Amino acid sequence: MSRLKGKKYNIITFGCQMNEHDSETIAGMLTERGCTEVLDRRDSDITIINTCSIRENADKRFFGTLGQLKKIKEKNPDYVACVCGCMMQQQHIIDTIKAKYPWVDIIFGTHNIHRFPELLENVYSERQKVMEVLPDREEIVEGLPAKRLFKHKSFVNIMYGCNNFCTYCIVPYTRGREKSRKPEDILEEVRKLVADDVKEVTLLGQNVNSYRGISDKEWDFADLIYALNDIEGLERIRFMTSHPKDLSDKLIQAFVDCEKLCNYIHLPVQAGSSRVLKRMNRKYDREKYLELVRKLREAVPGITMSTDIIVGFPGETEEDFEETLSLVKEVGYDSAFTFLYSVRKGTPAAEYEDQIPEDIKHERFNRLVDLINEGSAAKNAAYVGRIEKVLVEGMSKKNDETLTGRTEGFKLVDFEGPKELIGSTVDVEIIEGKTFSLTGKLV
Ligand code: SAH
Ligand code: SF4
Ligand code: F3S
Repeated sequence: MSRLKGKKYNIITFGCQMNEHDSETIAGMLTERGCTEVLDRRDSDITIINTCSIRENADKRFFGTLGQLKKIKEKNPDYVACVCGCMMQQQHIIDTIKAKYPWVDIIFGTHNIHRFPELLENVYSERQKVMEVLPDREEIVEGLPAKRLFKHKSFVNIMYGCNNFCTYCIVPYTRGREKSRKPEDILEEVRKLVADDVKEVTLLGQNVNSYRGISDKEWDFADLIYALNDIEGLERIRFMTSHPKDLSDKLIQAFVDCEKLCNYIHLPVQAGSSRVLKRMNRKYDREKYLELVRKLREAVPGITMSTDIIVGFPGETEEDFEETLSLVKEVGYDSAFTFLYSVRKGTPAAEYEDQIPEDIKHERFNRLVDLINEGSAAKNAAYVGRIEKVLVEGMSKKNDETLTGRTEGFKLVDFEGPKELIGSTVDVEIIEGKTFSLTGKLV
């Protein structure tokens, strides 16, 4: 019998949707073996910290949390502390953990989360620490369970890894090279999810536009969308993230042809200056990006757009930064994630000598955020009076009479209604547009 039965676990997740989904898989594997999840880590027998390394503050938050586990271990010698995720794919992090955090029992990486239950069994049987980190994914392991965060929507990995080596980014080093899942495996997973009441799937990959699935023939990303669109009972398809360099005309046509593909795109631009984009190794320039936006808007009127922007990349001049501001104005994003450039050890940009002083980075960051928020508020205000189809996701955190859900364009809407509506798509009239969300009423 499994030694894991009856154990209480707690997972702490940092980082992106990939990590959130990996944590769902870890939770699924532990649930299958008779473990139960607890929300307070002090009540747990097993804590797993799933780490992110995208920026320096992610690293810092991890070490802070890891420090706190020491006390739990002191009180309960059987307690098992586990760490995994992107930080574990870097040798200097492992060295630090070994030197300064000896209470860690299990270290595993991003390529072998399926091995975690076995590693855990070993720790219980042998009473020894284990570390298993692989340099890259050997093959894709299918059929792992997942304990979903949401009942009616789900993440679905379609590919792993990244081949792009943007000069600021750690992900290619922590997630390895691109590997696509087989189309039939993805379709089967989505059919099963739909049978389990899932209405919306978000397809995950660092660059979904370079998906290449081998089956009877080679499938590209648009082929996959067309096939998913035919699944009965599925209502909405979204995807994350789409790299501008590989966004095809065929995908734009899929927006037109596939009614389930939501008219929303997250299209990270990173910077508005072609000179900076070149040094970032993004492989498109300002004009190509704006041309894509124009094509998308022409083919899909009303499509909503969001983006990621990095401020203070090495060598960014005031003129470069102003090009970012002007691009933001020109595109008119619905929302944007903005980041201060953060030096990542081992990436090319970390070696660039023209790093930007912190005070300049912050000053630019604030100017950019003001512009973006102004744009979001104006976009959202224009929704007042419109009737939107909202997929109800759950109760609002504010009170238990308010429901919350998303429009097709990914806008968050709060409105009053009975909880029986969770999981259905309803018509909501928008009565207020705020900077980060909409308020509506059922019609
Ligand atoms: N694969 C996605 C991005 C994943 S990382 C893509 O290419 O679009 C999410 C975002 O984090 C990136 O879009 C970028 O804006 C930001 N980011 C990545 N590395 C960073 C760094 N070193 N400093 C600041 N922001 C960074
Ligand atoms: Fe990082 Fe660039 Fe890959 Fe995105 S495409 S994960 S930003 S290297
Ligand atoms: Fe972070 Fe890894 Fe995602 S570095 S952003 S958790 S791919």
